[in-house]
Amino acid sequence: MEAKKKFYITTPIYYPSAKLHIGHAYCTVATDVIARYKRMQGYDVMFLTGTDEHGQKIEEKAKAAGVTPQQFVDNIVLGKGGVKDLWKLMNISNDRFIRTTDDYHVAAIQKIFKKMYENGDIYKGKYTGKYCTPCESFWTESQLVDGKCPDCGGEVKDAEEEAYFFRLSKYAEPVRKLLLEGNFLEPASRVNEMVKNFIDPGLEDLCVSRTSFTWGVPVDFDPGHVVYVWVDALFNYCTALGCMNDKYPDADFEEFWPADVHMVGKEIVRFHSIIWPAMLMSMNMPLPKKIFGHGWLLFGGGKMSKSKGNVVDPYILSERFGVDALRFYLMREFPLGSDGNFSNELLISRINSELANDLGNLLSRSVAMVEKYFGGTIPENRQPDAMDDELIGMVKGLRDKYEQLMDNFGTQDALSEVFRVISRANKYIDETAPWVLAKDMEANGARLAAVMYNLIETLRVCLTLLTPFMPESVEKGFAQIGAAKEDTTWEAAAEWGRLHNITVHKGEALFTRKDMKKDLEALEQLEHPAEAKA
Ligand code: MSP
Repeated sequence: MEAKKKFYITTPIYYPSAKLHIGHAYCTVATDVIARYKRMQGYDVMFLTGTDEHGQKIEEKAKAAGVTPQQFVDNIVLGKGGVKDLWKLMNISNDRFIRTTDDYHVAAIQKIFKKMYENGDIYKGKYTGKYCTPCESFWTESQLVDGKCPDCGGEVKDAEEEAYFFRLSKYAEPVRKLLLEGNFLEPASRVNEMVKNFIDPGLEDLCVSRTSFTWGVPVDFDPGHVVYVWVDALFNYCTALGCMNDKYPDADFEEFWPADVHMVGKEIVRFHSIIWPAMLMSMNMPLPKKIFGHGWLLFGGGKMSKSKGNVVDPYILSERFGVDALRFYLMREFPLGSDGNFSNELLISRINSELANDLGNLLSRSVAMVEKYFGGTIPENRQPDAMDDELIGMVKGLRDKYEQLMDNFGTQDALSEVFRVISRANKYIDETAPWVLAKDMEANGARLAAVMYNLIETLRVCLTLLTPFMPESVEKGFAQIGAAKEDTTWEAAAEWGRLHNITVHKGEALFTRKDMKKDLEALEQLEHPAEAKA
């Protein structure tokens, strides 16, 4: 038997410095959609996510909370409503979850750091500069914007310490080449930004150890130094596959490395597209095939962030609207590479227009009509008509269009294509007017059967292609149209006329319409209880 093709995809590992918000969920849902899409296509997928638990910020937060850093992160990662709970709630299908405080990871990072030291790419020197604690980033004077951190706009502090440096400068040319040739970094618009802002001005060596705090991976050959959190974090993508540790078999690393894609937010593209490949080159390890830098989910025009406090709680939204509606909205509203606004109003209007109206109605009307006119089972005697051709043609071409878009991270457009067909099918109901045909079953029964068949087949293909986005709801839809597992595969989505002996089963509505005014008021209460009362 031919071995299945492998596909390795990762999310960034999240800082457990506070509860995660809908912006983090956006990034993980996008990755989950791609992972599920690849599994549906038959790939052997490895999907990794996790948490980035070291660093000064966590140390400070733990101190303020009167607990140890380990207790602090354990609570945010494992506690009720924590990171792991959130991914379970959002139906995230990750195969592994790495925590950088896991013993195997810590030991592997020590080996990796030592190896780069021994090969001469890490050396000891002195660091003077500006440090931004929330971003865990050192900056040179010239990088500051109005004297503030260029990433978050916060205060920076003077810092000087004996430190280890990574010879990033040595890799400037190979990294430039990597960025400019091929499609290592996408969307392509981000390439210029990286080259112009970071490589052209000259890559300086990177400070990769700290002595000002202790919550990190100790440099085992020089006590008092801990490994810079980004070195510790980036290598998670390898250690989680068993690289330099015995937690997982070496075979995993051999089979799945290099990663097919690291999904990351745009503000950490710099780390992933410059520092990460340089360190891998130093380690003589293959480079990931692609970094995809997605945009931000904005809230009131700004980035949602824990420090600004303008966060939206995915628990509240999922409870009210359902996880699938939320997943759908996040992927539907704007393209993966761009920024987009989050608002409760937009969420509700998407649910009402596309999920409840277009998809929900198509399903419930079709199923109800098959029950009403045929007692649930569509007769085999069906009479086609030229007016079916447009719809059937659209459905036949849908999978390939969708594939092309999904292969290029065009998740929003892929959804648009599916919903174009759904709208067309609703129009087809109006055009064929089944209720008129049903008035004379003897004369029109076979024609009516064909109309019903076309609707159910359309639903089967559309639901199949929606699987990565709304895994639970499509299952309910399949049950209602009487599609078996083998009718809902990737291969079956390219086949028209797959279903035979269709028997439908009426079920609950997949999505119900929301009352805009009532729901907005209720959300306001839940999200900002104090303000809402005032
Ligand atoms: N720990 C680092 C990543 C290390 S990966 C080796 C980190 N963590 S983070 O928790 O601050 O952010 C994790 C991811 O969440 C980033 O990709 C970031 O872009 C994403 N998002 C955080 N807020 C976001 C939005 N409002 N919108 C979209 N994504 C956002 O960086």
